[in-house]
Amino acid sequence: MSRRYLPLAVDTVEDIEGYKPGGYHPVHLGDTFDGRYKILHKLGSGGFSTTWLARDTVGKRYYALKIVKAAETAASTELRTLEKLAAIQSDDCGRHHIRNLAAYFTFQGPNGLHNCLVTEVAGPSLNRLYNVIGHGYAQGSRRLRADIARTATRQLVQAVHFLHSQRICHGDLTLSNVLLKLKSIDDWTEDEVLERLGTPSTQDLVAAPGTHPGDSAPRYVVEPASMPDAKYFTHDVLLVDFGEAFPVDSPPRPEDIGIPVKYRAPETFFESKVSPASEAWSLACVLYEIRAGDPLFTSIMGGRDEIIMQMVQMKGKLLGPWWSSWDGRSMFVDDDDEPLKERTNVAPRAQEYPLEGMIAEIGGEDEEEAFFGSEVSILEPKDTKVPPDEAESMRDFLEGALRWAPEERLSVAQMLRHPWIAG
Ligand SMILES: Nc1ncnc2c1ncn2[C@@H]1O[C@H](COP(=O)(O)OP(=O)(O)O)[C@@H](O)[C@H]1O
Ligand SMILES: [Mg+2]
Repeated sequence: MSRRYLPLAVDTVEDIEGYKPGGYHPVHLGDTFDGRYKILHKLGSGGFSTTWLARDTVGKRYYALKIVKAAETAASTELRTLEKLAAIQSDDCGRHHIRNLAAYFTFQGPNGLHNCLVTEVAGPSLNRLYNVIGHGYAQGSRRLRADIARTATRQLVQAVHFLHSQRICHGDLTLSNVLLKLKSIDDWTEDEVLERLGTPSTQDLVAAPGTHPGDSAPRYVVEPASMPDAKYFTHDVLLVDFGEAFPVDSPPRPEDIGIPVKYRAPETFFESKVSPASEAWSLACVLYEIRAGDPLFTSIMGGRDEIIMQMVQMKGKLLGPWWSSWDGRSMFVDDDDEPLKERTNVAPRAQEYPLEGMIAEIGGEDEEEAFFGSEVSILEPKDTKVPPDEAESMRDFLEGALRWAPEERLSVAQMLRHPWIAG
């Protein structure tokens, strides 16, 4: 398909080709929505939406406005899920770590009808925190300090446990969908907001020769706010993005939800099944990554075989029927199913590493000193290893959570009671 716009030099913004009928709504700084929310800055974007920092001129507070693509608005998966959760009477501690909906509205724009979710403003996603480029931030061991990681992992398990207890799966557990909460910013003036989050930086959008996007396109795109000083963060996490959530009783096909291959459980590849157990596998991968700073499984080319290969290198042969149906097994065994002495493929990160090897490596490749623009760093000091007691408990946890057979795996309720989580 031909491009509508000339490519931009920044990669921190939404896919600009998404500005078309059915796609993103073109937002400009200073725009007002629903007669009250004035746009001050950009907070982030995803495949389905752009999220903006807005001042509520009526209630005098700040909110995050998630404006969903027009084509995703009819299904309203996130809106319906959040409303369902809001209606539940429960004081389960997990719900404090789930995005709550302050309000929502719908509006018509040049690209169609959009849902807009009004929610609390949070800090960066863990993905962003672990991958900041430039600005002198986090040039080093890019993972949360052990004690904060511990709180974060426990809260995330609590959040998913609450969802599963309501027979809902999140459907897209990734580090991009886990945010660090901010301390309240409601008493900041608009000038202070811009001082602490940086003035918005914009890039003009230019139509490709011969195309006429008209008012489908914004005049410019906005780069997301820079990371505020760590002193404005709490140590609490917030699970967001319910755009792929589904009821346990009517699961979609794994191909129909966007879960990245590195977090997919083996049965999603071999039996095309998603369930609370496959989500428990994803959760375990996410928890490992929060503590380690690197993903457990890595897919460079985006293919499933790369991931399955690393699972095998970590855990050994797949369950019988999966093993015999997996063509990639020829990388490990000969025609008689005898292990090959030497592999000819390029070895991925997990390199025949059992879990304890992976855990022992954590903190072994830290770069320069961690600096986070604050005297109190929320990041782990360089070269800090996982202490032996924790390493053993973490290994035991992951071994239980990453069992091949979904019914043998730790459920999220069992995870909550495991010493690595319960402490
Ligand atoms: N309440 C919020 N506060 C701060 N940033 C947010 C908030 N909600 C979303 N973001 C940012 O926007 C990104 C995309 O939001 P998300 O809800 O995951 O949308 P999508 O469904 O398009 O993936 C997040 O990764 C985060 O960086
Ligand atoms: Mg997202």
